[in-house]
Amino acid sequence: MANIIAVQLLSFLTTLSVFFPSTTTTTTIAKPDGLTVKLTHRDSPDSPFYQPNLTTSQRTQKLILQSKARALHRQQHFNSNAVRPKVDYQGHSVYMAQVSIGTFTSRPNSSISYFLSMDSGSDLMWTQCDTCRSPGHHCFPQRQPLFPSLRSSSYRKLVCNRHPLCYPRSCIGDFCSYSKRYADESTSVGFLASETFTFDSDSARKEVVPNIVFGCGFDQTLRGDYGQEGNFAGILGLGWGPHFLVKQLGSRAGGRFSYCLQTTTNPDGQNTLRFGSDIPYRPGLKSTDLQQYSGVLALGDGYYVSLLDISIAGSRLRIPPEYFAKRPPRGGTLIDSGCAFSAIVTPAYEILERELVNYFSRLGGFSRIRPQKFFDLYYKRSRRQGYSNLPNLTFHLGGADLVVQPQGAFYMIEGKDYFCLAMIPFDGATLIGSYQQTNQRFIYDLNAKKLFFGQEDCSRNA
Ligand SMILES: *[C@@H]1O[C@H](CO)[C@@H](O)[C@H](O)[C@H]1NC(C)=O
Ligand SMILES: *[C@@H]1O[C@H](CO)[C@@H](O)[C@H](O)[C@H]1NC(C)=O
Ligand SMILES: *[C@@H]1O[C@H](CO)[C@@H](O)[C@H](O)[C@H]1NC(C)=O
Repeated sequence: MANIIAVQLLSFLTTLSVFFPSTTTTTTIAKPDGLTVKLTHRDSPDSPFYQPNLTTSQRTQKLILQSKARALHRQQHFNSNAVRPKVDYQGHSVYMAQVSIGTFTSRPNSSISYFLSMDSGSDLMWTQCDTCRSPGHHCFPQRQPLFPSLRSSSYRKLVCNRHPLCYPRSCIGDFCSYSKRYADESTSVGFLASETFTFDSDSARKEVVPNIVFGCGFDQTLRGDYGQEGNFAGILGLGWGPHFLVKQLGSRAGGRFSYCLQTTTNPDGQNTLRFGSDIPYRPGLKSTDLQQYSGVLALGDGYYVSLLDISIAGSRLRIPPEYFAKRPPRGGTLIDSGCAFSAIVTPAYEILERELVNYFSRLGGFSRIRPQKFFDLYYKRSRRQGYSNLPNLTFHLGGADLVVQPQGAFYMIEGKDYFCLAMIPFDGATLIGSYQQTNQRFIYDLNAKKLFFGQEDCSRNA
């Protein structure tokens, strides 16, 4: 752990002076199959986005804004009638993946470590290459070193039309290029290249995977709230297109990836993204079908499920099915690990809120207070009471129920004497966010097009 932080610091400091890559000192042995990638929460002290001076309230407010922005970006795009190039889902996730890229001969087998935003709405992984400094090109401000592709001995540009991951009719000169435009108008243009990636699986283990195709961006624009602070270095796409790591890893991933998130408001917790045989075996998981709309719409490659109804403490709300029945682009339900708090399509949210009010008044002893600046539904509560006697909520998905324990349904802000329903109403799609996904094992099986899940204490084996 300490080593990894030191390496990060080193790479920040060295951007100022002459290029000098950080080194990985551990001997690197690639396992024959499986892969584990460390995830860092935006608000973790390890994260480049960490703002030590923010209070918990301020952090929460930022996460709510993030959830709204995420839902909204999707919607703005949907509502536009203009013909546009393929637009991927807005990228600024609450989770970042730690990856090291390249091979630099200045030190044996050294690479540069990056935090890439994990995006379940697009499939390509990219970072800014230092060629964005050339005249006529653009880089957005970045504190981590721009990737010096030409100095890496393992960097190979893909030759036009020869590689299966080359986009059709997208070449610059003899080499395959890409052009990504995100829903918030951020863009990245560059070359597709293959590189050696080193993943910090945990503090002791590093795994080296050669020949991963990624985007080496030479022309970028970045919009959005925190992009301008220099903390953003690119995207690790988690959506199910051909460039997604799961596809590229082939039999090593077996078409599967998994995570088990610790609570979003405990950003110190370790989280990991696991592939193939690194996914722990869990008997008795439930499953629902994953739906893919990326072929139909220009909205990226998110993971859609069918949401049929919601329950409070096991009683169904009987939400009219038409509230959830709209398909993308006007609706649909996404499992979105990159979104902090769930956004629920407004008429369904209104029923949920009204029925919770009824539930608490039947139970007695709850006093509702006026909404504070974050969510809509608030009740008084002393810290001592914690989450006791709060109900669980169930998302009834096609074929399986996703039960959210009170700790994932409601939110208590440190130092305040209330709790609130940790979801926001939204006119459009429903996003099941990471707060509602905590302490639940999720396994995405892209071959079977199924999402498996079941409750788990994620602090034990994330
Ligand atoms: C954060 O707080 C410390 C100590 O109070 C102060 O020195 C520093 O300038 C603050 N940083 C920001 C970004 O406000
Ligand atoms: C560098 O990588 C090569 C190939 O993976 C390996 O054989 C060699 O032992 C590594 N050297 C060091 C110093 O880690
Ligand atoms: C959800 O709450 C209901 C009512 O309290 C309870 O019967 C049920 O066992 C709970 N489900 C889970 C999975 O905790």
